[in-house]
Amino acid sequence: MKKLTVNVGNGYDILIEKGIINHTVDYIKNVTKAKKICLISDTNVFPLYGEAVKNSLLGGGYEVYDYIYTAGEESKTAATVISMVEFMAQNEFTRSDLVVALGGGVCGDMAGFASAIYLRGIDFVQIPTSLLAQVDSSVGGKTAVDLPQGKNLCGAFHQPVLVLIDTDTLTTLTPHFYSDGMAEAIKTGCIKSESLFELIENNDSREIIDEIVYRCVCIKAGVVERDEKEHGERALLNFGHTPGHAIEKLHNFTTVSHGEAVGIGMVIMAKAGEQNGLTPVGTAERIVDVLKKFSLKTEDDNSLDDIISAMNADKKRTGSSIKFILLHSIGDAFINEISYGDIPKFFGLE
Ligand code: GLY
Repeated sequence: MKKLTVNVGNGYDILIEKGIINHTVDYIKNVTKAKKICLISDTNVFPLYGEAVKNSLLGGGYEVYDYIYTAGEESKTAATVISMVEFMAQNEFTRSDLVVALGGGVCGDMAGFASAIYLRGIDFVQIPTSLLAQVDSSVGGKTAVDLPQGKNLCGAFHQPVLVLIDTDTLTTLTPHFYSDGMAEAIKTGCIKSESLFELIENNDSREIIDEIVYRCVCIKAGVVERDEKEHGERALLNFGHTPGHAIEKLHNFTTVSHGEAVGIGMVIMAKAGEQNGLTPVGTAERIVDVLKKFSLKTEDDNSLDDIISAMNADKKRTGSSIKFILLHSIGDAFINEISYGDIPKFFGLE
């Protein structure tokens, strides 16, 4: 088993092992005095792994209440989270009871947010089943729902008390969703670790997936320990995300997935860095090659002009400049703030 501790607040462990969900109770009993557990999952994941987790918890004498919502980003609304907390209230959950999130990023974000607001905060455990959630979103305590005005606009920082990562759950992911998560792993290499990037470049990722997940969560844990609330360094985790979000928006959050959009965003940012003499020439090409290995897109159908315009449309929310994440080199990212007026030139559009 691979184990690390995230030293934020009271601290919490991340445990990585194939098959660990079958022994959920052995680890959960060490972090809670709960009598009741609200097991939150979705209509795709619960039929695959719900029974294993639930049986394990029932074996420990816990009362388990399942809350299963319709799978998909469309469910990630305030209404779903309110329905989760009402479910807990109806079943008389107290502040010492526990929430367990079993699923991908949407599940962790919503179950985490419900835990943050129910009775002003109860404990929750993350059991991420998608690669994206395992390498990124299950660690660090960002929880949120989407609003009609945009993604993740309503949420809270609320750290889990435990993260259990079972990489066997990745075997039921479609190749597309596996690649989607791999884009975030590549991003982690880009911003903090050339050796992680090389590991992904030079190996069959599925053969070393536990190592890749472990290295990603170690890096993320370090960043979160140093900057939990994203006042500085944590923003580096957003490499590729600013153009990526614009691309997702241009596709109405339907035809291009998050990882795909982030991949294209990383290429755009590496090229802009190269054009401005801030990133060594050849960096973008190296990122393109590794993205292609996972059949990820490296450019979008929309023009760079349209992508930059969509990015600037967020102007009202972010003031007079945007903080872009750039690379000094693979494994070494930095923040570069650019005022709106200078953005077209920075991207070579004038
Ligand atoms: N996914 C980026 C972060 O957790 O900060």
